[in-house]
Amino acid sequence: MKKLISIEEGLEITEKELRELHREYLNPGLVTTMGLVKFDRLYKEASGCIIKDSQGQEYIDFLGGYGALNLGHNPPEVLKALEKVKNLPNILQASLGVAPAVLAHNLAQITPGDLKRTFFCNSGAEAVEGALKLARIATKKEKIIYCEGSFHGKTFGALSVTGREKYKLPFQPLVPNCHPVPFGDAESLEQALKSGDAAAFIVECIQGEGGIIVPPQGYLKRVRELCTRYNTLLIIDEIQTGLGRTGKMFACEYEDVVPDIMCLAKSLGGGVMPIGAYITTEKIHNSAYGGMDKAILHTSTFGGNNLACSAGIAALEFILKNNLPLEAEKKGQYLLSKLKGLQEMYPIIKEVRGKGLMIGLELKGSNNTLLNRLSGGTLENLAHEYFASLVAGQLLNEYHIITAYTLNNPNVIRIEPPLTIEYEQMDKLVWALEDIFQKNKSFIKMAIANLKNVL
Ligand SMILES: Cc1ncc(COP(=O)(O)O)c(C=O)c1O
Repeated sequence: MKKLISIEEGLEITEKELRELHREYLNPGLVTTMGLVKFDRLYKEASGCIIKDSQGQEYIDFLGGYGALNLGHNPPEVLKALEKVKNLPNILQASLGVAPAVLAHNLAQITPGDLKRTFFCNSGAEAVEGALKLARIATKKEKIIYCEGSFHGKTFGALSVTGREKYKLPFQPLVPNCHPVPFGDAESLEQALKSGDAAAFIVECIQGEGGIIVPPQGYLKRVRELCTRYNTLLIIDEIQTGLGRTGKMFACEYEDVVPDIMCLAKSLGGGVMPIGAYITTEKIHNSAYGGMDKAILHTSTFGGNNLACSAGIAALEFILKNNLPLEAEKKGQYLLSKLKGLQEMYPIIKEVRGKGLMIGLELKGSNNTLLNRLSGGTLENLAHEYFASLVAGQLLNEYHIITAYTLNNPNVIRIEPPLTIEYEQMDKLVWALEDIFQKNKSFIKMAIANLKNVL
């Protein structure tokens, strides 16, 4: 008989064995990438904003699961909720589930305007897929408009409306009739909408993976007016910005904008369970899936399971009880002003931007021609693809602070800690960054300092 590894044995494996298992059975290229900046540690425990490795070393998490950990790691309130429902049938399609009914009710209470009907699934990309299909069936139109630099996920539909060629090109052809417009540019959107044949415009309130890009004030309001005027559904992707992250429960509330369809995922699972959702109006839902023959046109086996939805119920309760949006607003202002102070002192920082605890720190690349020539262009490539990860590597290895770069813009360090982060922990991050920039006044110095790892 083949020997299988038990959970107990798995919990005892060494860092080296972990790397070998990943290299052998998962994604070897990823193991190499993680190893470059020593991101390949074995972590043993996590609670709130703190993670512990196998040596007992503590790290502060400023990455926050790409926005999935608004409540921190393993929040006891969410784990308790799972305990309470552990005897329910978790998946029983031939029934009406209890937890999805409660969570959908609660979402209708906290989402803006007349958003009311929810569809549950298991991830952000799946929520976007559902939203795109809903727009097509409800409007009977085909065209979808999306933004350059956007990120909506990596399944076929979500990828088709994602604005980064690197992720799209190897998988062509994608879903047809998806058209990009520049983010933050209402005039271009109007040109694209004018023909009246677009089913939907999909947009993030702040582009996350695009590099934490905040659009001009008033953009979203204008987007709402244009979509209404040209009979196009407005899909707002709040998967990363939602549930308190930017200082409001939903980022679209900054401009009092109500979408026709809102996508949620990430922190909806309380950092414990995978769950995604779209929420729409009764009218749109009825025109798409009203009636028995259309009720099961779009489904998902695990969508609406009791465990995931109970995590969602507990997560919303936690967010409201602890007023996490207000926490994010106050802490975000504090951290943003400290980071802007650093920017004034260190020209290596190109820009600091964001809202609430969704902050991006963009670094300047290199233009040292001599060193580029000597390195055969390697340094230039590094500057474009890995500069922020070198800083993230130093933050991790020397200061025990976890960060990463944004997917579509690798020169931006994302700062998205749990909204429960403490002021002292934020001070530690600022101090560590200052120390790094003090010692490495240029990209070249940092590249050389990291050359051994990089090579
Ligand atoms: C705005 C946005 N939409 C969609 C997604 C895709 O979510 P998932 O990775 O759960 O599929 C992400 C993930 O980063 C995101 O940031």
